[in-house]
Parts: sequence; structure tokens; C-alpha cells
Amino acid sequence: MEISKIGIIGAGQMGTGIAQVCAQSNLEVALNDVSEARVNAGLATIAGNLTRQVDRKQIEPKARETALSLIRPAPDFEALGDCDLVIEAATENEDIKRKIFAKLCPMLKATALIATNTSSISITRLASITDRPERFIGIHFMNPVPRMQLVELIRGIVTDNTTFDTAKTFVSRLGKTFTVSEDFPAFIVNRILLPMINEAIYTLYEGVGSVESIDTAMRLGANHPMGPLQLADFIGLDTVLSVMQVLYDGMADPKYRPCPLLVKYVEAGWLGRKTQRGFYDYRSGSPIPTR
Ligand SMILES: NC(=O)c1ccc[n+]([C@@H]2O[C@H](COP(=O)([O-])OP(=O)(O)OC[C@H]3O[C@@H](n4cnc5c(N)ncnc54)[C@H](O)[C@@H]3O)[C@@H](O)[C@H]2O)c1
Repeated sequence: MEISKIGIIGAGQMGTGIAQVCAQSNLEVALNDVSEARVNAGLATIAGNLTRQVDRKQIEPKARETALSLIRPAPDFEALGDCDLVIEAATENEDIKRKIFAKLCPMLKATALIATNTSSISITRLASITDRPERFIGIHFMNPVPRMQLVELIRGIVTDNTTFDTAKTFVSRLGKTFTVSEDFPAFIVNRILLPMINEAIYTLYEGVGSVESIDTAMRLGANHPMGPLQLADFIGLDTVLSVMQVLYDGMADPKYRPCPLLVKYVEAGWLGRKTQRGFYDYRSGSPIPTR
């Protein structure tokens, strides 16, 4: 199936990254969020990221202009009516995603495919809310999308072969590599990565080490490019908590219980980089540990 127009719901960290790589692969993009202000903030992020690529001589200024000209704001779901593929990249909350799919489906053309970028939620369950579960698939990009090579593809039980093949072609067109995961909570990458991050937060909670000690230990002791708490801030602590909750509920295994300290940070609205505070305080420019 030919894919040329992409709709993206959610203009946050992931939605903007996905929009950018699609436009840089010459695909038309319609970008939606809850308000015009959110969409405009997303467009400004993309423009800034492309400027950085020009400054680093990774792309020509003309390529930046071409990419930006391919992205248009979509104020509502009606504006996604001509899309061949709509990728949902809204907040990691099943209720929010359910409402989006219920509202979205009547606006789409019959042949359109729907994908979700969820980090953890059942693809089969999300597909069942739509009018086209056979045309629904998980396309899970990694953060930051322009830099990360991997995309996980997750079929729901009902996803048909044409949808799966189209998703593979789409990911290859973006220059990314896919792996295929079965539809179990948090799939492959987050099933392994997020419990490690949650354990790092328990290590902090129990006073085994400070933020700085834990991150330095894992950077220099395990050769991780980022410490686990730094990575948690980068992902977004609300997303980390949601994924742990999905693992805990979905696997019914106490080893996945979210650390109470993680819950506290989310309750405080300290969600990491996107709100300027999390395990580090980013407001002064250089990150200062908050514990
Ligand atoms: N952050 C990561 O590292 C990461 C990696 C892979 C996948 N994901 C997944 O991608 C999705 C988005 O995560 P993010 O990090 O971009 O979050 P984010 O908080 O940066 O952005 C979420 C965006 O969704 C918007 N939104 C919320 N409700 C909406 C609605 N009803 N309609 C339209 N837009 C709506 C919000 O306004 C916000 O702009 C989640 O499902 C998350 O699990 C995140």
C-alpha cells in the first residue's frame, strides 16, 4: 500500500521527532495536538532541530526549508481525513488514547492505516476500539527519533499482513531498522530498560546512592551512554511511571511495582527535562541533582 501522507497526533517529544523524520523522507505530514499553541510549539521545536542540523553541516539549508514546507498544522482530526497513515503519539495514558481513536476513526478514509507509538499499552486492546483493527499496528519509535536507529513493530492479534508489510516499508523508507515484538506489555526495549530505570530509582529511594553516584556508576561502571536517572528525565517521568504501571498490571508480578519515589516526582509535576525538573534541575542551564 502506498503511503505518502502521514497524520501525527501529539506534538510532544515523540510526535515532533516522527514528523521531522517523515518530512525529511519527503512525506507530507499533518501535525495535531490539543491546541494550536501546542502544535505551534511542536513546529518551533522541529524548526530548531533542523537549524541545528544545518549548523552542524548535516543537512543543506534548502533541505531544512523543504522539510518544513512538508509539515502542516492539523487543528482537528478532520484535517487528517486525507492521510494514508495516522500515527498516534499522544500522552501515555490508555484513556486519552481510547478517546482519540474513537473520535479519529469516523474522520479517516476507509483505506487509512492507524499506528500507535505507545511504549507499553496492548496493541490488540487499542486496535479493538477502532473500526479497523486489521489496519492497526504498533510502530514504536525511540527517543530522540532523528538520532535513534531502531523502530519496534508490534502486531496486534488482528493486524493483517498488508498492514504489517506496509509498516515495514514505511520504517525502511525513513532509513530506520525495525525489530518485531510480540504484543506483550512494554514489548522488548521497555520491558528490559524500564525495570532497570525503576531499580535505579529504588536505589536512590533506599539511600544506596545519590543521583550523581547512581548515574556515574552506571555510566562508568556499565558503560551506559547516559545514567539511568538522566535517561528517566529524558524519557519523561510520567511516561516511565505509566510504563511501569502497565507492566505491573499486565504481568501481575510485584517485581514491576513502580517505586514510590517515582510516583512522588510525578505528583509534584517534576516530569524531567520537559518540565525543567526531575531527578535533575535544568533551569539554570547545567543540570543540578535534586537529591
Ligand atoms: N518519551 C520517550 O522516550 C518515548 C519513547 C518512545 C515512545 N514514547 C511514547 O510516545 C507517546 C508520546 O510520548 P512523548 O514523550 O512525546 O510525550 P509528551 O508529553 O512529550 O507529548 C505528548 C503530547 O500529546 C499531546 N496530547 C495529549 N492528549 C492529546 C489529545 N487528546 N489529542 C492530541 N494530542 C494530545 C500533549 O498535549 C503533548 O503535546 C507516548 O505514548 C509514549 O509512551 C515515548
